[in-house]
Amino acid sequence: MSSFGKRLRGYKERVLGLFSNDIGIDLGTANTLVYVKGRGIVINEPSMVAINTKTGQVVAVGQQAKDMMGRTPAHIQSVQPVVDGVISDFEITSEMLSYLINKAQAGRSKLLGPRVAVGVPSGITSVEVRAVRDAARAAGAREVHVIEEPMAAAIGIELPVHEPQGSMVIDIGGGTTDIGIVSLGGLVNARNVRIAGDKFNQDIVSHIRNEYKMLIGEKSAEELKIAIASISPTRQHMEAIIRGRDLVTGLPREIMVTDQDVRNAIGHSIEELVESVKEVLETTPPEILSDVIRRGIYLAGGGALIRGLPEYLTRNLGVPVMVASDPLTAVVRGAVGSLCMRRSSFLYYLYSTVSRVAQCVRSCSARSRAYGRRVLR
Ligand SMILES: Nc1ncnc2c1ncn2[C@@H]1O[C@H](COP(=O)(O)OP(=O)(O)OP(=O)(O)O)[C@@H](O)[C@H]1O
Ligand SMILES: [Mg+2]
Repeated sequence: MSSFGKRLRGYKERVLGLFSNDIGIDLGTANTLVYVKGRGIVINEPSMVAINTKTGQVVAVGQQAKDMMGRTPAHIQSVQPVVDGVISDFEITSEMLSYLINKAQAGRSKLLGPRVAVGVPSGITSVEVRAVRDAARAAGAREVHVIEEPMAAAIGIELPVHEPQGSMVIDIGGGTTDIGIVSLGGLVNARNVRIAGDKFNQDIVSHIRNEYKMLIGEKSAEELKIAIASISPTRQHMEAIIRGRDLVTGLPREIMVTDQDVRNAIGHSIEELVESVKEVLETTPPEILSDVIRRGIYLAGGGALIRGLPEYLTRNLGVPVMVASDPLTAVVRGAVGSLCMRRSSFLYYLYSTVSRVAQCVRSCSARSRAYGRRVLR
């Protein structure tokens, strides 16, 4: 783009910013992120809502709700609005979106409601899309755009999504892994599988139960995974202490586990993930496949941080695989980025109304001038 074009776009965006906020939301299974254009990430909290089951009222949202987990009286329940990448409860999601949109704009709301882009898993049904739209509208959004996560991640990674070139992204989140190939502004091929962070945690819980006859919670399994999970056995040897309940004696117990244990636990799921990626590659048109081989595959989401995963995928797929910079925020950055690519319907309406009025004034004055000339003659 020429420097004049860039300057013009800058002015346009500044004018747009005077009227309304642009907000990107990644409503993930594990974490919810909100990005406000011009301010960056303003919310990064667990996707959790605590509700009072007697009154149906929301007691807490986000980090506050997560902190309450396991410490609440019987009538207060902490629930996840998104389970396995699917919205589990419309009411709760609506409350969560309302909380997020209000918190993101606190003290900085504009004349008009915000434009909101929400990242959703690929393959979401039209009923679910409508549920997301309605929830965001009910929360005060003026315009709601739903963007599939692989597309959002590709925009967030700054891949050339609008060019006639294939770009491939694998977003390994908490509930789902989204595998997508993007070209010319659309998803050419995509797949959504339920093998992601939560599944790895469950694998670790079962492995410790089977191997050490000890019961650990999923939260401990997640901490273990983040601390020592590694796919490559050649890396530095790592170990960590884990606490739980001995299944034989019923008493608390503490053991030392190694990266090899975690590798054994999650190995099967990782292999299944590789198979799913291969299936996507096998059904991709050859021209686009050649772009993917040339440009490589980008990993996003928290799962991308598993040590040695890009090298393992590169070996098994025969395509270079790399981790995107800041993989946990790629989707939300892309969601807000997608808004910048859209024309604001309000400003477009304003512009078209003003230009219609100006045209009307011009034709009226031309007519009156012609009439004046006729009278003078
Ligand atoms: N360093 C790490 N190593 C391994 N796993 C990690 C690491 N950091 C985070 N994770 C895992 O990443 C997952 C969260 O990732 P992310 O925030 O991308 O998911 P999400 O967007 O909430 O979920 P989804 O996209 O499935 O709806 C969790 O399962 C977490 O345990
Ligand atoms: Mg995600």
